[in-house]
Amino acid sequence: MDGDIELRVDGRRRRLRVDTRTTLLDALRDGVGATAPKKGCDHGQCGACTVLLDGRRAITCLALAVAHDGAEITTAEGLADGGRLHPVQEAFLERDALQCGFCTPGQVCSAVGVLDEVAAGHPSAVTEDLAGPVELTDEEVRERMSGNLCRCGAYVNIVAAVRDGAR
Ligand code: FES
Ligand code: FES
Repeated sequence: MDGDIELRVDGRRRRLRVDTRTTLLDALRDGVGATAPKKGCDHGQCGACTVLLDGRRAITCLALAVAHDGAEITTAEGLADGGRLHPVQEAFLERDALQCGFCTPGQVCSAVGVLDEVAAGHPSAVTEDLAGPVELTDEEVRERMSGNLCRCGAYVNIVAAVRDGAR
């Protein structure tokens, strides 16, 4: 069975007809042509398909497209403001925190989501003071970025880049 949905992807409105079993990731990649979200595992385990979905980071390989009619989606590509990179993208470049092409877009979207969550005071499993503001410690960054896994373990400088991105 098919369904009609409308998504706003990186600022552009897109109308799609999708099979009701189509994942949001496949709708983005195959229907919209958005290639920044990557299909790493297709099982919700690697974070390569992460986008900002209505402002919050979300993996798209386990989400059904029809369940997100009307959603506002920002991919790693859409984080840049015209020719100007998002501060988190700048920080990844400056810190040489880049991973491979499969992992980097998800890492960057996740990092933007992490910083928003911390700024909003959302606690994580390692936050000690649940009542106060959240401090962006290395431990917090590691815990919050732990859903983004790669096969080679090249995580050097990502914590520093995420912290820089908050400034
Ligand atoms: S492709 Fe979605 S979590 Fe791996
Ligand atoms: S950086 Fe992509 S698999 Fe390791």
